[in-house]
Amino acid sequence: MTKKQIWDYSPAPESTDHIQLKDQYDLFINGEFIPAVDGKYFDTINPSNEKKIAEVAEAGKADIEKAVASAKKAYEKTWSKMHPKERGKYIYRIARLLQERAREFSVIETMDGGKPIRESRDVDVPLAAAHFFYHAGWADKLEYAFPGRATEPLGVVGQIIPWNFPLLMAAWKLAPALATGNTVVLKPAETTPLTAMKLAEIIQEADLPPGVVNIVNGAGETGKFLVNHGDINKIAFTGSTDVGKYIMKSVAGSGKKYTLELGGKAANIIFEDAPIDQAVEGIINAIFFNQGHVCCAGSRLYVQEGVADEVIAKLQKRMESLIVGDPLDKNTDIGAINSKMQLDKIKMYVKLGKDEGGKIHQTACSLPKKGYWFAPTIFTDVSQSNRIVQEEIFGPVLAIQTFRTVDEVITKANNSPYGLSGGVWTDKGSKIFKVTQDIRAGVIWANTFNKFDPSSPFGGYKESGVGSEGGIEGLSGYVNLV
Ligand code: NAI
Ligand code: MG
Repeated sequence: MTKKQIWDYSPAPESTDHIQLKDQYDLFINGEFIPAVDGKYFDTINPSNEKKIAEVAEAGKADIEKAVASAKKAYEKTWSKMHPKERGKYIYRIARLLQERAREFSVIETMDGGKPIRESRDVDVPLAAAHFFYHAGWADKLEYAFPGRATEPLGVVGQIIPWNFPLLMAAWKLAPALATGNTVVLKPAETTPLTAMKLAEIIQEADLPPGVVNIVNGAGETGKFLVNHGDINKIAFTGSTDVGKYIMKSVAGSGKKYTLELGGKAANIIFEDAPIDQAVEGIINAIFFNQGHVCCAGSRLYVQEGVADEVIAKLQKRMESLIVGDPLDKNTDIGAINSKMQLDKIKMYVKLGKDEGGKIHQTACSLPKKGYWFAPTIFTDVSQSNRIVQEEIFGPVLAIQTFRTVDEVITKANNSPYGLSGGVWTDKGSKIFKVTQDIRAGVIWANTFNKFDPSSPFGGYKESGVGSEGGIEGLSGYVNLV
């Protein structure tokens, strides 16, 4: 690799021999792979070397019509009529097949999106399988999820997902929808369609009745056709706040339900009595995990004054040992930025941070020549009114401020248009309870960060979204209670 760091590591690349990728992927509609009506394809590339991996059919209006019609038919004829226990069996089957092919999925996820293989292998794919297992279990037990109430499915659900956790987001969306008896048209993000297409192969292998899951690729235009289709009963979306607002406006008055998982600007708070070394690891995980392409990333750090110098010095030292480079290398900590567009956005914010008077520190690592890369970056000397403190950057860029009292940091943490997640590091349980109660955010981690489980709901306040995913709250977004 091209870096020169504290230690040099021999490369340990994950092999790509075992994966099966085609040059061309079609749309998955009614249980079959079919080309788009107008025959269009677009490329998906590997952001770590800019090489084309495959081309993918681009769905237009007519294709969305077909996909929704097949989902509607499957809903009316098969899926809503099937005994819940039988539905559960199919979902278990998908979970097991995914587990069996975990290695292949991890490699493809890393190639298509740029995230380190260690993450796709240890986080994305196992959690995706866990989501299918968890929801398979609920399929025939919904009366225990909602005691005293009967549930009915919503019908056809349109699901639109982003590029930061392509397979995991597909699992978050599909598993609860299927378990509760809905059928689905899913649209993956245009830069990361491949693991969803591989999942379509698994769905076919699992013998899911045709039309229960349809997967269509394309960019914003394709998403719009789905959002505005009259036979869709619900839209579930994860992505930018702008598109979330567009969806809210589009479905207003239509009777369509919606859940929106949008942006974030999480406060990660370090008190003086925190275990400092663990907290520094926590900061690294909170902001540099997945190149900061995480809606719940701890992108605002608040350090109590007495330990600020120590924390920042240790953080800078630890940053120097982070390995940035080939995402397929098992040593890599930080992979490629997902797209040129996202890289440009990060660069724009970093320039803005400097122009606003922030003091920048970046690691000394050298970055590969080809592909989209950004070195881990921190800003000090920033204030609440700076745009890099208020706006979502979605990259490995951390804004650091100090504070003196608990009340001060709670006020600062809440001074954000977002409210998705947060972190608190302290030795005192009482402080944890105070901070977690007073900060308006959907998820707050204490003495850890970025931990997920299918049983715990995830969702935000304010501009971070509407509704939750995961757990019983997540299930409730896919049923009418009668
Ligand atoms: P985006 O919100 O445009 O894309 C997310 C998904 O929505 C993709 O599948 C996209 O094709 C689809 N989409 C785009 N426009 C649409 C429309 N009008 N109607 C229906 N579907 C539409 O996000 P983008 O442009 O890729 O990233 C921009 C910023 O959004 C990022 O820099 C980041 O700040 C934020 N973001 C947040 C995510 C999260 O997990 N909360 C995930 C991805 C991006
Ligand atoms: Mg790609």
